[in-house]
Amino acid sequence: MTLDETILGRRSLDDVEGILAVTNTDTDSVAHVTPNGADTVFTWDYSRSRPALGRLYEKAKASQWNAETDLDWSIDVDPDKVAHEMTATDPNIAYLRSLPKGLSNPMSSWGDSEWETLVGEFNRWRLSQFLHGEQGALVCTAKIVETVPWIDAKYYASTQVMDEARHVEVFARYLDTKLGGEYPVNAHLRMLLDDIIADSRWDMTYLGMQIMVEGLALAAFGFMHMITTDELLKKLLRYVMSDEARHVAFGVLSLQEAYSQMTSAELRDRQEFAYEAAVRMRDRFLAQEVWERMGVDVRRVIQLILENPRPEADLFRQLLFAKIVPNCKKLGLLDAGATNGHKGWLRERFEEMNVIQWEDHADTGEEYADLDEVAKDRAAASTAAS
Ligand SMILES: [Fe+2]
Ligand SMILES: [Fe+2]
Repeated sequence: MTLDETILGRRSLDDVEGILAVTNTDTDSVAHVTPNGADTVFTWDYSRSRPALGRLYEKAKASQWNAETDLDWSIDVDPDKVAHEMTATDPNIAYLRSLPKGLSNPMSSWGDSEWETLVGEFNRWRLSQFLHGEQGALVCTAKIVETVPWIDAKYYASTQVMDEARHVEVFARYLDTKLGGEYPVNAHLRMLLDDIIADSRWDMTYLGMQIMVEGLALAAFGFMHMITTDELLKKLLRYVMSDEARHVAFGVLSLQEAYSQMTSAELRDRQEFAYEAAVRMRDRFLAQEVWERMGVDVRRVIQLILENPRPEADLFRQLLFAKIVPNCKKLGLLDAGATNGHKGWLRERFEEMNVIQWEDHADTGEEYADLDEVAKDRAAASTAAS
């Protein structure tokens, strides 16, 4: 069996049949039940022995915000304008639109109105996946409260549960009241969330959620915040990012300690989990649900996207890994198991995925204080009042 058959359950990274074999068939059901594979752990050691986590906990308590009163929901949002801004930089839509009409182009019969519909659908789909990811974070962090054996981490994680509830609340409200409703969860994202919840090892929840899913979200929110001119969405993203920076820092601080005590075989398990999560997130951005809804040959479209030769397509994919790769490096996961003449296992995988160039980008262990926009707004308000 090849590496990808063992870890991903398909022939190769870009095997379209394997990618599409992951489907979400129960899109009409309201509840999704998934087994939680972990035990709940009490600790009787209440001593505050982890000062870095303690500082993060204090920061989280001071920088809570209220979705109801800190955002102005009366702002009129133009959904078409938001959709156009958000997709204007999407390299795949531009590429697909530039292809010559013909038998091998599933969008041959499309005119302006179909492309217009696609832009709106794509935007709702993308924000909806962040909504579902936020619910994943809510559930995963509640799981961490139960499973992590350290009191400082249980304290901090409890603040993240509140943060994530607020994030689910704001994305759901924005989609519902401003964009016309949400899309079902992407099949690859749901599979990843199920895998994280099913794992019995407490550190795997952190690796899957705080490092991988939230690392990607932080990079994507930063990008979306930069390009949108919608006042409500801009502030919403600014405040959500303030929280997310703490969450990624929580993952880095906790896992540094946990990994420093692990054997190389245990670290290899973590490397494989990180690789699998990275691939699931890359697959998610193929947006198969949108192409299904648009009624075109999904297989063919995904094949075209994977073959997109434009350099900006690769750049966009890479950008999503801007936080994940340096954080994996900081945790020692890139190079764990490296020997003379052999690179670290995860370094090789990230090279294959063409995302390794981020390895020395700023990691997120300490930057959360700089990213606290809530604290900055409050300081500015109190200066203005005095
Ligand atoms: Fe969040
Ligand atoms: Fe988060």
